[in-house]
Amino acid sequence: MANPIEGLPEILDGAYTFALQHIDLAGCSYGKPHWPGPYIDGPQPYYYFLAGLVALSRSSRVLELGTHFGGAIFSIARAMASRGGGAASPEIVTVDFRTRNAEAFGAYPQVTRLVGNCLDPAVAARVGQAFSGPVDVMFVDVTHEYEQTRRCLDIYVPLVTPALVILDDIRLNPSMARLWADLSIAYGDRARDITESARREETVGFGLLVPERSAPTPSLR
Ligand SMILES: C[S@@+](CC[C@H](N)C(=O)[O-])C[C@H]1O[C@@H](n2cnc3c(N)ncnc32)[C@H](O)[C@@H]1O
Repeated sequence: MANPIEGLPEILDGAYTFALQHIDLAGCSYGKPHWPGPYIDGPQPYYYFLAGLVALSRSSRVLELGTHFGGAIFSIARAMASRGGGAASPEIVTVDFRTRNAEAFGAYPQVTRLVGNCLDPAVAARVGQAFSGPVDVMFVDVTHEYEQTRRCLDIYVPLVTPALVILDDIRLNPSMARLWADLSIAYGDRARDITESARREETVGFGLLVPERSAPTPSLR
């Protein structure tokens, strides 16, 4: 990604529809839900948004914290593959302390799956080594709670210097709502609620941070 800001509003607005029309996400399933309900055998609407964002921004380095069944990271891998090899070699890394859906990962050799607690310095070091340069998109989707998500930002924003950070579930509970309020103050107009563009439910929300690569990571406390 050459310039993280250039054309960003148009990319955010068009990402979902672009992916729906041009990227096949069949088989990119969410899997077992974290809420009461049956197995989700298909992509979540926000997978299309993430895939479109990656394709339209020509991202080639993506980090996901929180793999679950791999649905989101498989969607991102499909987005990169959909460009017909015109982009730089993909570097796609996902981290989870659980290993679900192991068989499906066999179809995505371009995805590096790291198993461990992403807050563990040894795991963070492996993540850092997996990338040859700054990350384009970092998707933070671990336990949806203030401290854990904040620590992910504290560790990984300076480590992989992402152009864009996506946060899931910014309104899921009071703890996440408080975090998003604090991030909105710390990041100013570089924090943006993208719930609507991402087709995420209003009750849970989706957020975007655009860190300043030349500035220190905003501290929340
Ligand atoms: C909401 S799910 C991720 C969903 C996935 N990103 C998607 O969109 O399909 C959250 C995942 O984060 C993992 N997780 C939570 N805290 C973690 C941590 N500290 N380190 C690694 N994984 C963690 C959980 O095991 C769970 O699989």
